Amino acid sequence: MSTAAEVRHIGIFTSGGDSPGMNAAIRAVVRAAHVSGLRVSGILGGYDGLINDHVRPLGPRDVSNIIQRGGTILRSARSAQFRTVEGRAKAVATMNAHGMDGLVAIGGDGTFTGANILFEEHGIRVIGLPGTIDNDLAGTDLTIGFDTAINTAVEAIDRIRDTASSHDRLFFVEVMGRDTGFIALACAVAAGAEFVLVPERPEHIDELVAVLGQASGTKSSSIVIVAEGEEEGGAFDVSKKVKQRIPDADIRVSVIGHIQRGGTPSVQDRLLASRLGVAAIDGLLQGKHDVMTGVVNGRVLHTPFKEAIGKRKELNTDLFRVLSILAT
Ligand code: F6P
Repeated sequence: MSTAAEVRHIGIFTSGGDSPGMNAAIRAVVRAAHVSGLRVSGILGGYDGLINDHVRPLGPRDVSNIIQRGGTILRSARSAQFRTVEGRAKAVATMNAHGMDGLVAIGGDGTFTGANILFEEHGIRVIGLPGTIDNDLAGTDLTIGFDTAINTAVEAIDRIRDTASSHDRLFFVEVMGRDTGFIALACAVAAGAEFVLVPERPEHIDELVAVLGQASGTKSSSIVIVAEGEEEGGAFDVSKKVKQRIPDADIRVSVIGHIQRGGTPSVQDRLLASRLGVAAIDGLLQGKHDVMTGVVNGRVLHTPFKEAIGKRKELNTDLFRVLSILAT
């Protein structure tokens, strides 16, 4: 295996679900690499792009005017082929053909699972940046895209509140987050919701019904945020269960969906992406690999991929208490 000092040419790609701020991260990595004298190749379409040799050179001017754009200029995908030994061998062959000796991967748990396998099977040096709206990676307080996603979702929920309170309605609003409730919990507190259902904290419908019972008669509307991975089901399922218990409730359901993934990245996400992009190149040059670069308590840290994806990140449980106090 080659040593850190030999990193001269890196490939960069985005993989998995896109998130706002990925472009800011690409810009930061490309420009930091340029300053350190590294060549950069952009790989289009995640691991599939590496397998199929969709590669183009990236210089500092190629990433002009993208810091403010959502999505990813490198496009993204979830690759089935990369899950096979043959697919990964092809990916390594592309790297060798171009003379790449390291990779920067921007994505979430699936991306880092693949990166870790690349290292274990082929000794490929990969450093990761946490790019996902879900904020579900250990080793970083925030992931790139989370802040924008919750701001987008809260703006939508605020609009729902306007119409809900004009009609005395009960709304169930479903937000993303895969099998975690980081988005749901943050949105619930920030939007002043009455209740939140998240997979990490199985709630009984009884408790929800009791909270709604207390609210009825004194409030002009109620909003329940449902994380998409909630055990009771999505917002439609939960609403049906509640309707059986409170037949008089005038219920509507809204699934925010992919709107949460798009749009102009927030300042917070641009700052995080810029900082982590530079830190990733610093890390690679210091010989770090098979790690994800993150920020914990304000400090840049490099966490082994296995830990970032294997260790369950805890929700801030204090926020449940805050929510229930403020929802009275
Ligand atoms: O991981 C990001 C995410 O948006 C999740 O919150 C959601 O479960 C999933 O991706 C949706 O994936 P897709 O865009 O493939 O439907």
